Amino acid sequence: MKALKMIQYGDIETSLNFQQEDKPEPAAHEVLIKVHAASVNPIDNKILRGDFKAFSKVNFPAGIGRDVSGEVVAVGHAVAGFKKGDQVFSRVGEEHVGTVAEFVTVDADHLAKKPENLSHQDAAGIPLVGLTSYQALIKIAKLKEGDKILIHAGSGGIGSMAIQLAKSYGAYVITTTSTENVQWVKALGADQVIDYKKENYLDMLSGIDVVFDTLGGQYTLDAFKVIKDGGRVVSITGELDPQTAKEMGLNWLIRKLLGFKSRAITKAAKQKAALYRMVLMKADGLQLGALSQLYQDEIINPVMDRTYSFEQSKEAFAYLATGRAKGKVVISMQTESAN
Ligand SMILES: NC(=O)c1ccc[n+]([C@@H]2O[C@H](COP(=O)([O-])OP(=O)(O)OC[C@H]3O[C@@H](n4cnc5c(N)ncnc54)[C@H](OP(=O)(O)O)[C@@H]3O)[C@@H](O)[C@H]2O)c1
Repeated sequence: MKALKMIQYGDIETSLNFQQEDKPEPAAHEVLIKVHAASVNPIDNKILRGDFKAFSKVNFPAGIGRDVSGEVVAVGHAVAGFKKGDQVFSRVGEEHVGTVAEFVTVDADHLAKKPENLSHQDAAGIPLVGLTSYQALIKIAKLKEGDKILIHAGSGGIGSMAIQLAKSYGAYVITTTSTENVQWVKALGADQVIDYKKENYLDMLSGIDVVFDTLGGQYTLDAFKVIKDGGRVVSITGELDPQTAKEMGLNWLIRKLLGFKSRAITKAAKQKAALYRMVLMKADGLQLGALSQLYQDEIINPVMDRTYSFEQSKEAFAYLATGRAKGKVVISMQTESAN
């Protein structure tokens, strides 16, 4: 089968190559999926660039892509709940990364039935951003009706999903975006949209219950200037917090160093008696099934930017790397050219 592979750390043009390899066989608890569509996420580009090589090294050649939508074509003998012919989607586990390929094996625990009303292209854009938003906002920040939430970068893959999820829980949603995307983000349901090119959100907001930090750096620290006492800051790009570092199995020395690096955040959180967590999303089929129902019931709708063909996969990663995507960027095995 044909698969896109990372062959070394580096840039998209020289470090990604199509290769032929054997079709994988599903182990006892896995299914084999014929990929109809895959979506791309910033983590794919970050790993290719080598951003995480101090923590975890890639064994090249290695697959790329974590989101998939497709059809089950073979099932391991211990799998219950899925059968040949099922239309499914998944954020695959790290051991199965490589969805930009004709086939991929997936742990059945990471799988859910695709929403029937969505195409594979639409469904492929959901798992990673959907699970991240769900785990950050609902599981960690415990967002509830009436909460005021600031979601940074409302037009991104994460932001465009998180706005809809937060609205479905009855929150008052404030988001940031650039001038050209203001109306577009409003249409996703945001109650207040701040144009970061013209306005400074720090001058406009206070008493926020939850900040969803999708930008990191100074944005993480500044979150504590706008939250109320006892508020919650959940980041997906900021410094690691002690609990997440422990859950990652990092040794005490690295945890100590990370604790030193994030001391300004720890201090700011303490001053506001606030929660600070850096969320690293996890693959989860049950949670994905619950999200699938929200799409099926049209409470949340997929937000697609561009679709590329399999042959154009590198262009999909390059477009995402511009940082200007509006919603999701998808690679379709059934599409001839970008639209
Ligand atoms: N920890 C985890 O488990 C986890 C999971 C998923 C994602 N992430 C991380 O979360 C981040 C966001 O992911 P994504 O998929 O949403 O990325 P993305 O789709 O590439 O985000 C692009 C969007 O960011 C917006 N943006 C850029 N700078 C901005 C700013 N200063 N203020 C407001 N909006 C801004 C852009 O809007 P404009 O063009 O209007 O500027 C664009 O629409 C990435 O760093 C990703 O790696 C982490």
